Amino acid sequence: MTLDLFTEPSTEPAPPETFAPGAVLLRAFALKDENAILAAIGQVAAAAPFRQMETPGGFRMSVAMTNCGALGWVTDRSGYRYTSEDPQSGRAWPAMPAIFRALAQSAAAQAGFAGFEPDACLVNRYQPGTRLTLHQDRNEKDFAQPIVSVSLGIPAVFLFGGPKRADRCARLRLLHGDVVVWGGPARLRFHGVMPLAPAVHPLQGAQRINLTLRRAG
Ligand code: SIN
Ligand code: FE2
Repeated sequence: MTLDLFTEPSTEPAPPETFAPGAVLLRAFALKDENAILAAIGQVAAAAPFRQMETPGGFRMSVAMTNCGALGWVTDRSGYRYTSEDPQSGRAWPAMPAIFRALAQSAAAQAGFAGFEPDACLVNRYQPGTRLTLHQDRNEKDFAQPIVSVSLGIPAVFLFGGPKRADRCARLRLLHGDVVVWGGPARLRFHGVMPLAPAVHPLQGAQRINLTLRRAG
């Protein structure tokens, strides 16, 4: 399935689009808060800088990551997990900005997941050429809680597959301000991001930032 692959940038929030059972696209949902969100990302990254983590297999990820909230997702030679401290500094991850929590809660509610209380926000930074291979988000304790993903900056093609890695993927072109929520029957679906095409965003330059908000603990 291909959704809106060639649309112009969204400028106004659109009605929720359910693209798979439990998976909802909220076009331009975060646009009204873009300045506050970008300022908050700057503060998070000043306290816990973006870094390219190592996979358990010893590869350096092309996506640069940081976290905020009580828990942060990390990977290194010993595996994938959530930690309460930034391993790079030994300090707690920066607190989750109130705007992230509010946005995630309202997006989740719009998508049919009322009462979402995120305690972790992974912040991913992509540059042209950066990709994220297909994976499931399965380090969280409670799969009844959804994942809320906020896209900022240059476009990306988001791949949304099935319960098995080899399943066919839907492709969604995600633009600045778009929010995707997946939970319930979609919670463990494979997903990833195609290598980003070169582009420049007026506020963000040649990069894409993605926030994924989770209930990890
Ligand atoms: C992720 O799966 O953690 C991020 C997805 C995205 O960047 O859109
Ligand atoms: Fe993910």
